[in-house]
Amino acid sequence: MASVTLKNIRKVYPNNEKKKKSKKGEPVKKTNLKVTKEGVLAVDDFNLEIADKEFIVLVGPSGCGKSTLLRMVAGLEEISGGDLFINDVHMNNVAPKDRDIAMVFQSYALYPHMTVYDNMAFPLKLQKMDKAQIDKLVREAAETLDITQYLERKPKALSGGQRQRVAIGRAIVRNPKVLLMDEPLSNLDAKLRNQMRAEIIKLRKRIDTTFIYVTHDQTEAMTLGDRIVIMKDGVVQQVGTPQELFDHPINLFVAGFIGMPRMNVFDAELIKDGGKYAVKMGKVVVDLDEEKQARLAAKRVEPQSITLGVRPEHLTLESTGGPMLHGTVDVYEMMGSEIHYHVTVEGKDVIIIVPTIGMKDVVPMGSDIPFTFGGNVVHIFEKEKGTNLEF
Ligand SMILES: Nc1ncnc2c1ncn2[C@@H]1O[C@H](COP(=O)(O)OP(=O)(O)O)[C@@H](O)[C@H]1O
Ligand SMILES: [Mg+2]
Repeated sequence: MASVTLKNIRKVYPNNEKKKKSKKGEPVKKTNLKVTKEGVLAVDDFNLEIADKEFIVLVGPSGCGKSTLLRMVAGLEEISGGDLFINDVHMNNVAPKDRDIAMVFQSYALYPHMTVYDNMAFPLKLQKMDKAQIDKLVREAAETLDITQYLERKPKALSGGQRQRVAIGRAIVRNPKVLLMDEPLSNLDAKLRNQMRAEIIKLRKRIDTTFIYVTHDQTEAMTLGDRIVIMKDGVVQQVGTPQELFDHPINLFVAGFIGMPRMNVFDAELIKDGGKYAVKMGKVVVDLDEEKQARLAAKRVEPQSITLGVRPEHLTLESTGGPMLHGTVDVYEMMGSEIHYHVTVEGKDVIIIVPTIGMKDVVPMGSDIPFTFGGNVVHIFEKEKGTNLEF
C-alpha cells in the first residue's frame, strides 16, 4: 500500500564533462539539457502524485532523465531539490533499504555464483528472516513467475527471459510497497519482449503494489501504463492516460512519440470562414468538428499558419466530393488487415493506412494517390513552438 508524491523534484549533475569537439571543431552537444551554474539539469521540476497501486510509465528518448528519476525514488541517487513522499512520509533522506522499494534493472543484475533460489532468497536473508518463512516466500514468488522448475539452476543456465523473471522474483519476494522497473525488457528480442509485456500485465493483477516503470518504447508505455509521463530533456511534457495522450497530444513532441507509425505532419493554414474554423491545404478546405471549434474559440485562437497533424490511420482514400490532396506512392506494405502506403506529398514522407476490408484496388507504386481527412481527426500545432493550439 503506497502512494508516491514527487514535488518539484530536480537533479543536477556536476558539469564536469570536457567540451568535446567534433572533427570540424564545433562543440558536440549530447542532449538539450539545461545547464546552470550548478551543473547539468538532468531532471527539472518534476511533479507527480502517484496513487496506491497505480501503474505509472515514464517514457522518453534516451538521456531524458528517466533512470535518474527512478534512482532518486529508490534512494540510489541524491535528490538535488524538491520533496519525495511515500505514503505522505518525507523520504529524501531515508536510506534505500528503509524505503520498502524494490528495483528491477535492464541488466538483471543477478549473482552469477548463486542458484535462482539463493538469488531470490538473498534480500530476505538480509532481513534475517527465518528459513521456513524465506522458503515459503521464494516458492510463492517462483510460482507466480512460473520459474519453480529452475530454482536450483545458476543464472547462466537460463535464457534472457528466464533471467529477467528471476530478477523480478527477487524484487517481489519482499512484497515491496513500490516496484521500480528500469527498461526491464530492453535486452530481450522482439518476440520475448511481447510475451514478457503480457506477463507483466498479469503480474500486476496478482501483486498489490505501486509500479513505476521506465521505458523508451511507446508500445510498452501504451499497453502497460494506467498513466504515462512523457519526458524530454529532463522536463515532463505531458501526463495522462494512454488514450488521452493519443487523442490530445499537448505538443508535436508527444504527438510524434505516441502512436505507431508516427503522426503525419503537413504545412497548412488555420482559417476562419463565417465564424467557423477550418484548415486549408492548397485547394482543400476541411471544416473542424464542433468540439475543436469550441476549444479554439474559447482560446480566441487567431487564423494563422500551422503544422497540421493527422495520424496515418485517419487519412482516407474515400472522396468527400470536394478536392482531394495528392501524393505519389513510393512503396506499400501489405499487412493483411491493412495496407500501409508510403507516399511523397510535396517532398515530404506521409503514411496512409487503409483497411483491406471493403477495399477497392491497390494503388500501384509510382501512381498518384488522392486522399483526404475529416475535421474530427486533425491536430493543430502552433508553427514555431509546436504547441497544440486547442489546449
Ligand atoms: N552520474 C552522472 N553524472 C553526470 N551526468 C549524468 C550521470 N548520470 C546520468 N547523467 C546524465 O543525465 C542525463 C539523464 O540520464 P538518464 O537519467 O540516465 O537518462 P535516461 O534513463 O532517460 O536515458 C543524461 O544526459 C546523462 O548523460
Ligand atoms: Mg535509463
